[in-house]
Amino acid sequence: MKCGFLGGRPFDRFPGFWVAGVHRAAHDVGQSQGNMMQNKSVKFFDTQFQKQDSASDFVLNPFEQLALNYLKGNVLDLGCGLGNLSLEAGRRGHQVVAVDASPTAVARIQRDAQREKIAVQATQADVSGWVFPHTFDTILVIGLLSYFPCNLAMRLLQMVQEHVNPGGRTIINVLLEGTTYQEMFDGEGYHLFQRQELEQRFAGWEILVAQEDSFPAPLGTAKKLFTLVAEKPQRGN
Ligand SMILES: C[S@@+](CC[C@H](N)C(=O)[O-])C[C@H]1O[C@@H](n2cnc3c(N)ncnc32)[C@H](O)[C@@H]1O
Repeated sequence: MKCGFLGGRPFDRFPGFWVAGVHRAAHDVGQSQGNMMQNKSVKFFDTQFQKQDSASDFVLNPFEQLALNYLKGNVLDLGCGLGNLSLEAGRRGHQVVAVDASPTAVARIQRDAQREKIAVQATQADVSGWVFPHTFDTILVIGLLSYFPCNLAMRLLQMVQEHVNPGGRTIINVLLEGTTYQEMFDGEGYHLFQRQELEQRFAGWEILVAQEDSFPAPLGTAKKLFTLVAEKPQRGN
C-alpha cells in the first residue's frame, strides 16, 4: 500500500462529475461539525453546493448513475454530497442514511426528502469520526476516500467492509495513482489508490464491476478514477 502526500491547492468543478474533496490529517478525527467547516474541502463543497442548490443543478454524475443499478435493501451513502443518489434511491423505495459534512447538502436532502415523503435520513457529520449505527445492505462511498490520509482511508474502508450485511454490496469510487491534477489536494495528505488495490482489499467478495476511467483536467493534467462494485459473500460461503 502506498500513501501519497503532495502539495497543492483546492480543486475546481467538472460539470457533471463529482469534484474533488480533501481531508486534513488524522488530527481531524472526531472533530466537531463546527470545526469541520474550517476544513478547506468541506468549505469548498459547501460553497459549490450552495450554487448548485440555487440553480437546482441536481444531475447525477456517471458514478452515481452506475450505482443505481446495484442498490440493494437499506442504503448508507457516505460523503453523499448534495444527495442526488440518496434521494433517487429513496424514490425507488430504499431506506437511506446519507452522511456528509456540508450543512448545505444535508439541508437540501432533508428538505427534499420531507417534501417528497421518502425515507432518506440525512446527517451532518465528519465521517472519519462517525459511528455506524447498524449494518446496511448497500454502502456507497463515491468520491470520498482518496481525500483522506492513507491510514484513515484504510480504516474507513475496513469499517465499510464490516458494516455491509452478508450478501450486501458496496460501491466505491476513488482516485488512482496517475492522477496528475493536484489542484484538488490541499497538501495535508491523501491517498491515491493503486489500480489493483481495491480489488485486493475485497478478496473473497464477488467483484461485479471493476472500472477504470480517465478524464482530462486543466493544464494538461488528468484524473484517473476507479469504481468497484463488490458483493459480500453470504455467511458460510
Ligand atoms: C467528491 S464529493 C462526492 C459527493 C457525492 N458522493 C458525489 O458523488 O457527487 C466529496 C464529498 O465528501 C464530503 N466530505 C469531505 N470530507 C468529509 C468528511 N470528513 N466527512 C464528511 N463528508 C466529507 C464533501 O462535503 C463532499 O460532499
